[in-house]
Amino acid sequence: MSTSKIWQGNSTFILAAAGSAVGLGNIWKFPYMVGSNGGSAFVLIYLICIFAIGLPVMVSEIIIGKYGRKSPVNSLKKISQEYELNINWKYLGVLGALAGILILSYYSVFAGMAFSYIFNLFPSGLENPSNYSSKYFLDFTSSPGKLIFWHSLFLITTCLIVGLGVIKGIGKSVNFLMPFLFIFIILISLYSSYVGDLKSTLRFLFNPDFSAITPDVVISAMGQAFFSLSIGMGAIMAYGAYMPEKQLIGKTVLTIILLDTFVALAAGIAIFPIVFSNASLEVTAGPGLLFETLPVAFYSLPYGNLFSIIFFLLISIAALSSSISLLEPFTAWMEEKKKYTRRIIVVYFRILNLVFRACQHFFF
Ligand code: PFF
Repeated sequence: MSTSKIWQGNSTFILAAAGSAVGLGNIWKFPYMVGSNGGSAFVLIYLICIFAIGLPVMVSEIIIGKYGRKSPVNSLKKISQEYELNINWKYLGVLGALAGILILSYYSVFAGMAFSYIFNLFPSGLENPSNYSSKYFLDFTSSPGKLIFWHSLFLITTCLIVGLGVIKGIGKSVNFLMPFLFIFIILISLYSSYVGDLKSTLRFLFNPDFSAITPDVVISAMGQAFFSLSIGMGAIMAYGAYMPEKQLIGKTVLTIILLDTFVALAAGIAIFPIVFSNASLEVTAGPGLLFETLPVAFYSLPYGNLFSIIFFLLISIAALSSSISLLEPFTAWMEEKKKYTRRIIVVYFRILNLVFRACQHFFF
């Protein structure tokens, strides 16, 4: 790989990998998984999985990417050839690249929704904000036009960044976006702790109830740990190829994991105090927690509109930095085939995705 594709300085790799890890999985999925899996029991198993399984897997992915200096498919191929291993290992990279674009196709729908919520401010003077919120959510999710519009806007932004390349697109965007993300999550959790019920939240998150640990909770926590760290799909392996030669892998991975865990717990502290202080909200509300119930709580709080905008902006930034990494393994692999440039690849991907959405809408 040419040195023009290696990030300068250690921070870009950390921000890019942390950007990949921190996403809807932390801010949307983690709180509702905690809520519907017994609170602290889930958090405990999740943390064990992150450090006992996630850490070594992330180190391995980065080592493969950094050694191969190519897309995951070709890094795995190169290593298999050099060490006379079975060449079929490269198909692991193929599966990862395909899994990435499949995940992106639904990830971008929720991300688009978060994007639209930045502009969804409740009209003032509502008698029943709960009804308004449920109706808005239902209208939105049953309107293909709205879903396609917002999802397309989000996906086009993702394609633009990836199309601009590793340095000018991904590197520059994470350096710009990630500091905002960290500032926003701290701001929102401070706000929630102040206006909501922090005491119940801390008990709910950190007072382990061992009787709530069941095989289902363990499996869910493990799945969440893999998803949250973006491991097992080649995203981190693809970024490993752009890591500066001298950067230390162990220290870097520890920083990324700590940042990811910090944001997941901060998201819990941003959401649960509001839920606990509002009798009509349920911690077990599931996926609708973020889109249906939280805006109602913001509505009734001081400066709620402003914090609602910041909150959904935060989710959109987190989702964007993750979606870039979902598209990168596929793009890097296609680019190595030398037939197409990055820009053409992302345009093809976007058209394909649009056709897929249209087919889904008309035939299913
Ligand atoms: N880690 C991201 C999140 O928590 O939202 C999702 C993700 C990104 C999963 C990239 C897998 C991946 F390759």
